[in-house]
Amino acid sequence: MAFDHRKYQPFTPPARPQRRWPDQVIGKAPHWCAVDLRDGNQALVKPMTVAQKMRLFDLLVSIGFKEIEVGFPAASQPDFDFVRALIEQDRIPEDVTIQVLTQARDELIARSFEALRGARRAVMHLYNSTSRTQRERVFRMDVAGVRDIAVHGAQTVARHAAAQPDTQWVFQYSPESFTGTELDVAAEVVNAVVDVWQPAQGQPVIINLPATVEVSSPNVFADMVEWMNDNIVQREHLQISVHTHNDRGCAVAAAELAVMAGADRVEGTLMGNGERTGNMDLVTMAMNLYSQGVDPRLNLANMREITETVEAVTEISTHPRHPYAGELVFTAFSGSHQDAIRKCLVSQQPDEPWDVAYLPIDPRDLGRRYEEVVRINSQSGKGGVLHVLERDFGITLPRWLQIEFSRVVQRQAEESAGELDGAAIHALFETHYLNAPVNWQLQGYDVRRDGDTVEASIRVGNGAVAEQLTASGKGVVDALVSALEARAGQRIAVESFDEMALGEGTRASAMACVRMQVDGEIFSAAALADDTTSATLQAVLSAVGRATAAPRQAVAVG
Ligand code: KIV
Ligand code: ZN
Repeated sequence: MAFDHRKYQPFTPPARPQRRWPDQVIGKAPHWCAVDLRDGNQALVKPMTVAQKMRLFDLLVSIGFKEIEVGFPAASQPDFDFVRALIEQDRIPEDVTIQVLTQARDELIARSFEALRGARRAVMHLYNSTSRTQRERVFRMDVAGVRDIAVHGAQTVARHAAAQPDTQWVFQYSPESFTGTELDVAAEVVNAVVDVWQPAQGQPVIINLPATVEVSSPNVFADMVEWMNDNIVQREHLQISVHTHNDRGCAVAAAELAVMAGADRVEGTLMGNGERTGNMDLVTMAMNLYSQGVDPRLNLANMREITETVEAVTEISTHPRHPYAGELVFTAFSGSHQDAIRKCLVSQQPDEPWDVAYLPIDPRDLGRRYEEVVRINSQSGKGGVLHVLERDFGITLPRWLQIEFSRVVQRQAEESAGELDGAAIHALFETHYLNAPVNWQLQGYDVRRDGDTVEASIRVGNGAVAEQLTASGKGVVDALVSALEARAGQRIAVESFDEMALGEGTRASAMACVRMQVDGEIFSAAALADDTTSATLQAVLSAVGRATAAPRQAVAVG
């Protein structure tokens, strides 16, 4: 079969010369309706059990959804049983309205009302398909035919509702496959339904416009919604809802633009589970609003519990790069990103607007930790390595050592072809810089200053075996270098030297780092100690000790 784009036709967008939606900004959250338990469930390899549905229902309630489509009870016995369980076990909070879907067929409508008997308040969601393709190829029916099905269904719904007056009824109608329906046809059918239900006379009505299949770019969908918004009768008395699917990967964008185009309400599912490529992802859209300073009126702070529950009941794992919810979405491996994140986090103040490069929102808002943000692999630069050492061990490195050590880390990451955690990075730092070579441990010192000169007497060795070095110089480092040069005839020069006090969280209170030239070769070392002089002396001894390839003969000092 040839891969041939000429098989397909471009979608013809409606003419919208006066489109207004591009100038709109979403300033408040739409009404949300979670359809996980119906549309999401219909798409599962293994549909949810009643117990699983109950678990997901409780999660949706805890997140703050006030409208939840709980099933298609006329089409499925478990859905029927679940709706009954919700009502009979009094599981629906006062401020939550359940919704059920029904096709526009008398017996299915009757069964759906039976499922809802005893509910305090409920949305009866009626649908029939209106698209050109379905009219021509599936039903072999004209526009009047699909309009009559909708009108008859609407009348049947109204009649059953009147017979169950103890429930507060909301009626919802969807011209299924709206995106494949000519706009004048969609308006004709929808308006005929509105005429039956008469929202202007007080009956709450929702008109839901589904992108049952996403067939165009989101701007075209927004044009269609805006057109319907301008052409539905009794508009001010009803809610316009949208229900987008993700065939082109733009379901969230389409819903957002639809809200700009006048939609009051959005249907979707957590993590976008649903038919084919899924429904509109409620998590992403709500968090998009949140990241713009708009209260989504949903609480997604416990993202781990949300993903765990959704994964358990759908048996679908969350992609590690899923917006806001994925394991890796707040992680930076790239060196330049890590560097920028570290600098921004240092300057971010608790009371100022969030302004951190590469992190559109604060990971802590979703129960994530900064510790996860920077992770080290072969792509990471010095910024990330420094961040991990600072974060996990309170160790700050001078710039020259950052550069040198990040090469060590990178080499190790390349060799292991994987990620290095904080402990592995610290172990590398110990091996390459902190560990004093055998026989090169500082055992004690005596430093006396006489004017500009320092007289130093330093004991170096290993346990009881030690050697006494004495010399003078302009400072302790200078004195020790002179003593070491005299001792072994080496040419020793200090290339870089830094000492610093350490913050809380480390056992030592000072660190010194040196980079020395010993007989023309470079050796670096670092040392931690309780005072800066000890750290400095040990760092110099370690660097020179590393230069001495073969272990020295220890000299016993009597
Ligand atoms: O995608 C769709 O069109 C639906 C309707 C039944 C609303 O799920
Ligand atoms: Zn759907």
